[in-house]
Amino acid sequence: MNWMSFPEHRPRRLRQSATLRDIVQETHLHVSDFIQPIFVIHGSKTRRAVPSMPGVEQLTLDCVLDEVRSLANLGVKAVLLFGIPRKKDALGSEAYAHQGIIQKTIRSLKHEIPNMLLITDVCFCEYTDHGHCGVVDKDGQVDNDKTLELLAKEALSHAEAGADIVAPSDMMDGRVAAIRKTLDKGGFSGLPILSYSAKYASAFYGPFREAAESAPRTGDRKGYQINPANRREALREIALDLEEGADMVMVKPALAYLDIIRDVKEHFNAPVAAYNVSGEYAMVKAAAMKGWIDERAVRNEMLLSIKRAGADMIISYFTKEIVKDLKNGL
Ligand code: PBG
Repeated sequence: MNWMSFPEHRPRRLRQSATLRDIVQETHLHVSDFIQPIFVIHGSKTRRAVPSMPGVEQLTLDCVLDEVRSLANLGVKAVLLFGIPRKKDALGSEAYAHQGIIQKTIRSLKHEIPNMLLITDVCFCEYTDHGHCGVVDKDGQVDNDKTLELLAKEALSHAEAGADIVAPSDMMDGRVAAIRKTLDKGGFSGLPILSYSAKYASAFYGPFREAAESAPRTGDRKGYQINPANRREALREIALDLEEGADMVMVKPALAYLDIIRDVKEHFNAPVAAYNVSGEYAMVKAAAMKGWIDERAVRNEMLLSIKRAGADMIISYFTKEIVKDLKNGL
């Protein structure tokens, strides 16, 4: 049938001017949607560029304080902290050390910029010499239950240092329950858990592994992260984490998994975070550097699509840039 048979149906009526388009716009980005990841290294007065992520740097603690202060001034509400230890070992012991890089960072950020929400990544891949997300057994497999004990210890040490939210990203079974129990026993029953529940074994993490110096020495993470082909499995993971006590859940990566974000939003009531990961950032930056795309426009469209899919929070390396633009009215 020809559209002329329905002359009353003219969607273009509402697209005639910028103001009309503005009042019917369904999805908006806000400063408070964004969470900036931060990579902390030992030492002082050093900002070390990450080549595969233009604009992202590993920062020493003094520089982290400056960076987080400027994010706070822009209105950013939360940062996600990753630590890069000086020494790595088989059990990732700096991950739960009182004087560990992340524990020191949390204490001083909390003291200097108390209103910034500090979310900590709870995992071992940055801290172990083999680069896996937990304790590796004799056969080279990550031992689930041994890892749980250490994860709980790591989360508790973050809480004791002053973290506001802990975010386990290891993908061990039962980790949310283990962490919840340990936090409660330690007097932190009010501390929320943001679980990386639907974390896929993705090739989009490549640049992050350079930034966090966390690539596995041998093998891959397919024994614990989700197969990118699976949808129902992600929903099962989310359901389990919520039963175990997760307060918020995450889908990661974001762009190749917008359908999963939408599914999670429709099936569950908990707040949903999406991680716009390193590879998604790197692709935009690289194409923009070649002059092949309009960086701002592509960035905004991507971030909007993640929000439209159902994300309540977006963890993104674009945070600082987008927030500046949002302040100036995009
Ligand atoms: C694991 C972790 C990873 C990311 C965040 N936490 C990588 C991995 O599983 O290897 C990836 C984030 C990104 O690519 O931006 N602790």
